Amino acid sequence: MSDRFPVPDRVRHGASGPIPDLATHRELSARAIANPSGFWLDEAKVRLAWHTEPTLGLKGSFHDIQEGPISWFGDGVLNVTESCLDRHLDSRGEKVAILWEGDEPNEIRRITYRELHAEVCRTANALQELGVKRGERVILYMGMVPEAAIAMLACARLGAIHSVVFGGFSAEALRDRIRDCGAQVVITQDEGRRGGRSVPLKAVTDAALEGERGVEKVLVFRRTGGEIDWTEGRDVWWHEAVGEASATHQAVPVGAEDPLFILYTSGSTGRPKGVVHTCAGYLVWTSFTHEAVFDLREGDVYACVADVGWITGHSYIVYGPLCNGATTLMFESTPLYPDAGRYWDMVERHRINILYTAPTAIRALAAAGDAFVEKYDRSSLRVLGTVGEPINPDAWKWYARTVGEGRCAVVDTWWQTETGGHMITPVAPAIAAKPGSATLPLPGVMPVLLDERDRVIHGPGEGRLCLEMPWPGMARTVWGDHARYVSTYFGLFPGRYFTGDGCRRDDDGYYWITGRVDDVINVSGHRMGTAEFEAALNSVEEVAEAAVVGFPHPIKGQGVYAYVVLQPGFSGSVELEAAMNKTCRAQIGAHAKVDLFQVVPGLPKTRSGKVMRRILRKVAEGEPEKLGDVSTLADPSVVQAIVEGARTL
Ligand code: WT7
Repeated sequence: MSDRFPVPDRVRHGASGPIPDLATHRELSARAIANPSGFWLDEAKVRLAWHTEPTLGLKGSFHDIQEGPISWFGDGVLNVTESCLDRHLDSRGEKVAILWEGDEPNEIRRITYRELHAEVCRTANALQELGVKRGERVILYMGMVPEAAIAMLACARLGAIHSVVFGGFSAEALRDRIRDCGAQVVITQDEGRRGGRSVPLKAVTDAALEGERGVEKVLVFRRTGGEIDWTEGRDVWWHEAVGEASATHQAVPVGAEDPLFILYTSGSTGRPKGVVHTCAGYLVWTSFTHEAVFDLREGDVYACVADVGWITGHSYIVYGPLCNGATTLMFESTPLYPDAGRYWDMVERHRINILYTAPTAIRALAAAGDAFVEKYDRSSLRVLGTVGEPINPDAWKWYARTVGEGRCAVVDTWWQTETGGHMITPVAPAIAAKPGSATLPLPGVMPVLLDERDRVIHGPGEGRLCLEMPWPGMARTVWGDHARYVSTYFGLFPGRYFTGDGCRRDDDGYYWITGRVDDVINVSGHRMGTAEFEAALNSVEEVAEAAVVGFPHPIKGQGVYAYVVLQPGFSGSVELEAAMNKTCRAQIGAHAKVDLFQVVPGLPKTRSGKVMRRILRKVAEGEPEKLGDVSTLADPSVVQAIVEGARTL
């Protein structure tokens, strides 16, 4: 039996969110499953500010998804920024909306809802001046500055579609994304700041745009004042364009199902896909889950320390919290700068009540020693969240006991870029936790586990995790390629959304995510396709062939293990490994690094030429004794060489 952690008293008492206790969780789950359309329509009406209130709930089903996207609240008309800004002005105008902590401790900006509204209006006016219109795409390539959130909201205010590209991505990756969505405007900054270092965002943007014709304007926010190149006629300073613009702007009313943003994510192929989220359903889902799961209370200081370049930043720094009128922290730095006490220093200084971070950070901080935590007053903390990858029970307990001193709920939130928001997770005041388990599905979420013969598992068991029923926050399509959306998520199990994750359900009906079962690896919560690495490695002159798999990594969750076959006449070396990683960095980004290289004489292939990744995974995982049947291999002798030459950290 695994440990059970009941809801702590201070979380149970005073819970005011939509799911304050277990009884309500059960009741809402029953109602949402009996009548999803009506249940979420009611939520949509009360949660969002509408120009035209919707009368429709859900249209479409997973069975006819190839005909066209699912739709929620399809006849509603709104602008999401009115839900996030305008309607808070009377009741919360002077409340801090964005609390920004820069790279250096105590480098702080506080932006009230009134100020944020004015800034978003100014920026919307400036973007309009640059020619941005409803439905057009704007790429954001920025660091963690308030202007990133302001730019997202300004796009939304115009009905334009933003696509934020994480600031660690390379020029090539940025160019691919700009091309894929056909963006006309890019918003960036001179440099980013992170961990005491500068990140050359404008220089990378310049490199990405070299020879490109589609992008007409580049709006540049000045963060550091560092030296940058300037293209006359194309580049525009943020402080000039936005500074001169009017602080009033009439939000453009759009359809509930208009795209709000595109976010590129990695899948099984080398080409990232542009996941499309739409306005109303996404906002209903993020606001509902943000309020319920974290048990958000009016006076809370809420801190999600993710990056806006990932879905966590979109949903739980910007849209969910602002829709709920929360004070949301934006953090420019890293958990280890200037030292491993940074989070707890911030908790003390800002009196943070809710902290949301990733298992990787938790493991790294636990390894740094308790003294960094104990030095600071954490008595304000009430809810501790984790997201991005499975959390091991030891790290979970350290988070709950050492950081939270047993007073805080820990919510291990399972979800994905594609789900828009939380799906399987404890609800802080309602669900008892078990360390390592994402616990129970939220109301309206119907998980199903399929065994290796695609049969539904009832009761306890382990299998591939699918979801049975549409929910408002789900991604509607892949930008420009609905067929790819259908085949990726609904191809394997028609009528069901396949998550790509493996999962176990225990005797209590609790869910335990076991990790990806597809060719996606999750390094420090950064999702990357093995195919992206393979494409990069294959482009290295000395490399004949490469296969990449994940392996368990003590801090990063998963590490990257690359098997490479070299061209005749070449042999492995430290220099070659550095060159291969340099190529990964250039083609993918700064976060793409192979941890272990193994030069092999050949890859294990079936007679039809398919690489048997199962074998490669087992060796990388350090379990060569569990290789299973290798008799179908074209050349079984390569296996021995692979096993003998296996690398470890
Ligand atoms: C994949 C999605 C969700 C926002 C950040 C990552 C893994 C996510 C958990 C969790 C176990 C988790 C899954 C999922 N994952 N949260 N609480 N426990 N695994 O979003 O980049 O779209 O990655 O992250 O494998 O499929 P993403």
